[in-house]
Amino acid sequence: MEREWWKKAIIYQIYPRSFNDSDGDGIGDLTGIRKKIGYLEYLGIDAVWLNPVYDSPNVDNGYDVRNYRKIMDEFGTMEEMEQLIRDLHDRGIKLIMDFVPNHTSDQHRWFQRSKTSQNSEYRGYYIWRKGNNGEPPNNWQSLFGGSAWRYDDKTGEYYLHLFSEGQPDLNWDNPNVREEFYEIMRWWLGKGIDGFRLDVVNLISKNPSLPDDSTDKSTNPGSKYYVNGPKIHRYLQEMNEEVFLGSDTVAIGETPFVSTGEASKYISSSRNELDMIFHFDFVDFDRANGGLWELPRDWDLTELKRIMTKWRDVASCHDGWNATYLGNHDNPRIVTRYGNDGKYRRESAQVLGTLLLTISGTPFIYQGDELGMTNYNFSSLDQVKDVRTKKGFEEMKQKGNVDNFEEVEDIVSFWCRDNARTPMQWSGEEKGGFTDGEPWLNVNPNKNRVNVETEKLDDNSVLSYYRELISLRKENDALIYGDYELILEDDESIFAFLRIGSKNTMMTLLNFTSEKTKLCLTKKETLRRKELLLSNYSVKSVDEFNNIELMPWEARLYEVCLNDKN
Ligand code: NOJ
Repeated sequence: MEREWWKKAIIYQIYPRSFNDSDGDGIGDLTGIRKKIGYLEYLGIDAVWLNPVYDSPNVDNGYDVRNYRKIMDEFGTMEEMEQLIRDLHDRGIKLIMDFVPNHTSDQHRWFQRSKTSQNSEYRGYYIWRKGNNGEPPNNWQSLFGGSAWRYDDKTGEYYLHLFSEGQPDLNWDNPNVREEFYEIMRWWLGKGIDGFRLDVVNLISKNPSLPDDSTDKSTNPGSKYYVNGPKIHRYLQEMNEEVFLGSDTVAIGETPFVSTGEASKYISSSRNELDMIFHFDFVDFDRANGGLWELPRDWDLTELKRIMTKWRDVASCHDGWNATYLGNHDNPRIVTRYGNDGKYRRESAQVLGTLLLTISGTPFIYQGDELGMTNYNFSSLDQVKDVRTKKGFEEMKQKGNVDNFEEVEDIVSFWCRDNARTPMQWSGEEKGGFTDGEPWLNVNPNKNRVNVETEKLDDNSVLSYYRELISLRKENDALIYGDYELILEDDESIFAFLRIGSKNTMMTLLNFTSEKTKLCLTKKETLRRKELLLSNYSVKSVDEFNNIELMPWEARLYEVCLNDKN
């Protein structure tokens, strides 16, 4: 197996708007990030994935790019970006930029020109179509709500936007579009960055006849005609050849709705498409009826185990590699979602950290999860900035499904993407040490308890525990390259697995409940404990493996002996 740097890297995701504000405008910026490189070193991570920092009108916080070769004014300048790359590299940290190939901002020069006339040389950069008897060209729905088409008065046609109206979809069937992108990507690589996270990259190839979605009654009409579209693999192979070939960089695709079959094509190393993908099984499985306007459904730990195991198998069977994440800027805070953000906030955040950092695949830590940051309780729509929530709410109102915010307060408080975007909590100061000004999004009131300064001083904190986990992962090849084997498969309380390396074997035991739980290892004849490497409780007893009781949300990591192997 090739041992590229990104296989053993621990990657930390920075949402720049909310990380650290250096100039008091209430918005995080590049200099703010530079000032916290010491923290990244202290944490021990190897690479940063930076959400978009390009010039943007911010309809969707930077995922609507106006100019790919310019930095957003609020974040700083290109000189500061170059300085950030140098400073990170000086400290041995790599930088992965977010890149948005599926759509631009409607203020991008290409779109502005494409709007001027049906004959514009840029018309073919986007997907323009005539209406259908006064209706949009087809019944596809935007992933943010409402029709995926917007009518333009001037030229009398509609353009496709799978996200907001401010994010027109590009036409990847146009070779000029592809060449523009490869050129921009090479330009960025020339600045010394170490790779890209490619936003919704499996949506770039649309079925060119844009058919009505008559059979699909699912929550996302149209998706079967644009997810993993007809030419997607060809375009990714072309991109690989044009941009990545021969370089030591990484390409990580964000791939919503991806099946394991399709995924194996994206990541199989012999196909030269992507190095890793973010699948959505882990972050979509608890949606009730697939949607975001209901509270999450009840779920069972065995479902999570099955998902993790299924994806491990996809990677190992196809000579590919997994990207492992539990949360990001589009999802609720992991401790609220999968853990217990009340009495066992600390312990359950540590359990989730142990899962992330000991299971197979490259781990992506989302900023603030290493502190156990929680969801925010939104009590009015004014507190919400997320375009997906705002548009979704408007649509619900129009359809008469809801009259006022109070009716959906709990739902928004659970799902809203702003939960993950509240400012990073550096200290217990009024604005959490994030800014001297007025933060663009409210700071979570629990900043008094949950913040870097306090957690640094406490040996038992979530932060201290993450640091230990990170250094353990680095010291143990078994946690990086070892085979993954699920044990206690049907246990609904304990997530347990082995990582079997060439020199040693690790065993992770995680109690996913708020009760003390006994466990009985089915492999007890073959397992012999060697050493407890880490736990979030002080484990005093010398239990034998056939008689272990885990405390509520207890995590343990052992190095073990397998009788038949090491
Ligand atoms: C996925 C990004 O993670 C999300 O934040 C964004 O809204 C959509 N892609 C559209 O670019």
